[in-house]
Amino acid sequence: MVDKVEKIWMDGKFVNWDEANVHILTHTLHYGVGAFEGIRSYLRPDGTSVVFRLEEHIQRLMDSLKIVMLKPPFDRDTICRACIDSLRLNRLPEGYIRPLAYVGDGAMGLYAPNNPVRIAVIVWKWGAYLGEEALNKGIRAKVSSFSRHHVNSSMVKGKIVGHYVNSILSKREAKIAGYDEGIMLDTTGYVSEGSGENIFIVKNGTIKTPPFSSAILGGLTRDSVIRMARDLGYRVKPQQFTRDEMWLADEVFMTGTAAEITPVVEIDNRTIGAGVPGPITKAVQKRFFDVVRGQCRDYESWMTPYTVE
Ligand SMILES: Cc1ncc(COP(=O)(O)O)c(C=O)c1O
Repeated sequence: MVDKVEKIWMDGKFVNWDEANVHILTHTLHYGVGAFEGIRSYLRPDGTSVVFRLEEHIQRLMDSLKIVMLKPPFDRDTICRACIDSLRLNRLPEGYIRPLAYVGDGAMGLYAPNNPVRIAVIVWKWGAYLGEEALNKGIRAKVSSFSRHHVNSSMVKGKIVGHYVNSILSKREAKIAGYDEGIMLDTTGYVSEGSGENIFIVKNGTIKTPPFSSAILGGLTRDSVIRMARDLGYRVKPQQFTRDEMWLADEVFMTGTAAEITPVVEIDNRTIGAGVPGPITKAVQKRFFDVVRGQCRDYESWMTPYTVE
């Protein structure tokens, strides 16, 4: 259950949590054309808080809306401000932010060009998505029987509401089979991404992750990890790899706003490396948490600071 907060930002106004409702004819509820983001903020030991890569997340929201041809009713700055105001108003020094853009009610046909585009920003407290133990000890994953969207079927660069049916099928399949997460292959058979995470492998000291141009969401955590890993002196190659190349990797980890940097220690019942989070995974994970928590200040341009009284 999500921990209820006091207020939700809807179309420019704050409304009470219990009154943040939509009509049953909300177009997106029926057909899935809408876009959303997932963003985290972190509390630092000095009592300040930062939102991680806020502007880039809201730019991705704008890009997603462009892909599905929805005209945003608010500009990027207004939505960024709504995110910060929501955290402050709800007194969340650390939280998860969910901007959601959707098509409201009106016409019910597929075209419905005049239905209003609406935006909400919801914030809540969210700990480790896959659990604290997942961050420390790693997870068990399974290659999904569902392929990631073909790049000319669903527009994978968008974080589009309806795309998540594919992710949820993969997640459910993995969980019901006793694994923590599903890893999807693309329609040509190469490894693509997790249900809500990008994926990295490490072999002989080189880090590989599927390229941006493949069937993946361009994750902002992925982008940050590529930068930080290179700055730590590792070789990072955005390159496709196969399922068995992944089984034979020394280390595997997944990245995402929700999952942060999660080691993967077993895939398809094959132990990855030594079966524990590897040294490069741990170094990148440490750097990530040092950066967001303010112990490393080399990437402060990624942060939007705010304070909660
Ligand atoms: C399918 C998918 N891939 C990758 C990611 C990771 O993206 P980010 O690091 O921007 O959260 C997400 C989460 O947003 C996702 O849903």
